[in-house]
This record gives sequence, structure tokens and C-alpha cells, in this order.
Amino acid sequence: MGREGMSKDEVLSTLVAMKSGDKDWRNGRCFALVFNAGDEVEEIAREASVLYLSENGLNPLAFPSLGRMQEEIVDTVAQMLHGRTESCDAQGFMTSGGTESILLAVKAARDRASTLRGVSKPNMVLGESAHAAFHKAGHDYGVEIRKVSVKTHWRVDLNAMSNAIDSDTVLVVGSAPQYPQGVIDPIPEIAALASNAGTSCHVDACMGGFVLPFMESLGYPVAPWDFRVEGVTSISADIHKLGYSPKGASVLLHRTEEMRRHQIFFFDGWLGGFYASTGLLGTKAAGPIAAAWAVTHFLGEAGYMRLVEKTMEATKRLIEGVESIPGLQVLGEPDAHLVAIAAINPDEIDIFAVMDALSAGGWHLDRQRPPDSIHATVSAGTAGAIGDFLSDLRSAVVLVGSSRTDDRSTNYAPIGIDE
Ligand SMILES: Cc1ncc(COP(=O)(O)O)c(C=O)c1O
Repeated sequence: MGREGMSKDEVLSTLVAMKSGDKDWRNGRCFALVFNAGDEVEEIAREASVLYLSENGLNPLAFPSLGRMQEEIVDTVAQMLHGRTESCDAQGFMTSGGTESILLAVKAARDRASTLRGVSKPNMVLGESAHAAFHKAGHDYGVEIRKVSVKTHWRVDLNAMSNAIDSDTVLVVGSAPQYPQGVIDPIPEIAALASNAGTSCHVDACMGGFVLPFMESLGYPVAPWDFRVEGVTSISADIHKLGYSPKGASVLLHRTEEMRRHQIFFFDGWLGGFYASTGLLGTKAAGPIAAAWAVTHFLGEAGYMRLVEKTMEATKRLIEGVESIPGLQVLGEPDAHLVAIAAINPDEIDIFAVMDALSAGGWHLDRQRPPDSIHATVSAGTAGAIGDFLSDLRSAVVLVGSSRTDDRSTNYAPIGIDE
């Protein structure tokens, strides 16, 4: 920032110039980070965000429209996940994203176990495939992590999970689907283990929350994972992923009002007055709430069905195409739209060297390990590029041959500064 301000034109042209080095996600070559449902959805999201650019989600009494929008979004997601039935009245809040939803699920489970069972040395049990945000939560909330292995099909090992649970376990975790290989954990069995131990069970559907319900409606086989499974106590579902709304929108649902209460922080000893907080933030951006409301209402169930159908057809084409390239394989059998691509023999083909060749063509996939693989989140926005991707992938494998790269780094969430 200079002493004198810049002109509006200068500010905006500088921003546009700075942006020119960023990923171009509109061309369909970006299989991560941004999920594009097309120009019309983007325009509606933009206009809704701008309408609420300066409002503050901290206080729904000052901005009742923001309170109403959040309530309606939570109701919609609760219904989608079969949380509003005769036997279940799921309640929740919007959060800023998957990580915040997971942090709060862990906090709520820890506080509930402390209140109801007097647990003072909490632990949580999860697969090595569960998202890194659970590890952050364990660190931040003082909950020991008991990480169990996944079996050859990449789903958690139930025996290992059962052995890791004890009377101090406050949470058992399953994913629907897990990110690295895109498979759904055996949720009914995980929930039964949790329920038998008298503890909470969280299903991380940050990726699947806006995909699996519509896959089911379209007739795809979907293993049980939502509130219809007895013993599931909370679920996270991100709107800013395959719900196609801009960043800053997720929902965390609890099976009951009593369970939800442990998510909330109440404080009545401040000179500023009573403070109740449902999330990690105080002042909260209103734009993502308005945009999520706008996008979900614009698309409706029919819109999501169309987008999921397109995504699943593209995923099938991707999987079949990869399997037809000599030397490559898809890890496991993805249950939805996440696909990990690896060499059949990593000594013969270095998939990271292949990724380097693909990057030169503008493709963006996550490099992940172990094992060395590249990860595609397929979405409606990438569906049209699958044919080009497969042909570039085939060429890259031939071009790279047996050469290797020394760079074994992964790139899901780098800091971006020298550490
Ligand atoms: C399964 C799963 N859980 C949680 C997260 C974290 O979500 P966020 O990046 O919105 O914090 C992700 C992100 O990709 C995910 O795939």
C-alpha cells in the first residue's frame, strides 16, 4: 500500500495482471480446487455475493435475512441427508468450509463425551484416509488421534478400528467418500462400533454431500452412509465443492438438538455482553451464505441431478480411459467422482514425471502419496475435457518413458512461502 491511494482503474488492472499467472479453471483442465457449473451459476453466485458484500453474519438479529438463509440451507441439506424423518430431527449450522465443519464435529464430540461420560483424556479413531483436517482438530482440541490402516480396497480396516476404540474414545470417523482414492468407508459397521462403545460417529461427506444423494436418485448404487444409518451422529457436507457455490460454505449437521448444543460456545462474562458462537469465526462473511442460498435455489434438485449425471458419466469415461493406457491403473474402485491414477509398476513409470509433462499442458491434478499417484476431482466443469486429458495422459506416458523426477513433493495444501 502506498502513501497515496491508487486509482480504481490502476487497482483493477493490477489485479487482473496479477491473476494472469493463476490456474485457468474455466478451461476444464483443473481437476481440483474450483468446481464450475457454468457461466449462469457463476453469475448468480456473483450477484448474490455482491448484494451481501458488506453485511456481517455475526449477528442474525441485525441481518435477519442471513439467519433465514442459513436456516433454509441447513433444512435443505438435512432433508437431502435423510435427517428429517419421524425418528430423526437433524440440526446444524453453516460453516465456512469442510475444515471448519470437521473441527467443530470433533469439538462437539469431545465436549459431549466430557459432559455425559466425564471423559478427560479424549481420543478419536479414524482411517489413514480420513482428511488431514481431523489431525488439525485433534491437535487444536487436545484429542489424541488413533489412526488405523486401510485395507487393499482403501476402506478402513474395521478390526483395527474396533481394537483402537476404548472408553475414552469420543469420536469414530468414516468418510463418504474419502478424498485420496474416492471410496466410501463401511459406514454402518463404523457407526455400529461407535454406538456399541456409546460414543459419537462422524461421517465426512464434505466431498460426497452434494453428490451421493443425487447419484442415489439417478439409480447409481450407493452404499448406506447418511442419517438413515443408526449410530451416525454428525455429518459434514460442503456446498462450496460439488454444491457449486463459491468458497466459504459448508454445513455441519448433528442427529439431535442435544448433540448440536455441544458445538456452540456460550460466554456471559465479558464486558461486551453475552456471546454465543456456533463456529470458529466471529465476524463472518455474508457473501458466501447468500451465494450458497442463491445457487442451491437456482439449481434445485433437478439442476443437481443434471450436474451429477454429467459428472458420473465423465468419471466413468476417465476410469475406463486410464485403465486402457498401458502401465497405468486407477487405485481401488471409486464410489463417486474422485479418481486416483497411479503406475501399475512405480519402478517402470514415474507418475510424478508424467504429471510434470501434463502440467506443461496446463492440466492441474493433485500429486499425492503414499502411494505416488495423481488425483482428479471430476466435476461438471471438467467433464468436457476428459477426452483431451486422456489423450494427453497417454502421450505423456510415452514421452516420459522410464525417466524419473527427483521432485517427490505433494501439492494438496502447500503454504506457498519458504518455510
Ligand atoms: C473428504 C474431505 N473432507 C474435508 C475436506 C476439507 O474441506 P475444505 O477444503 O473445504 O476445508 C476435503 C477437501 O477436499 C475433503 O475432500
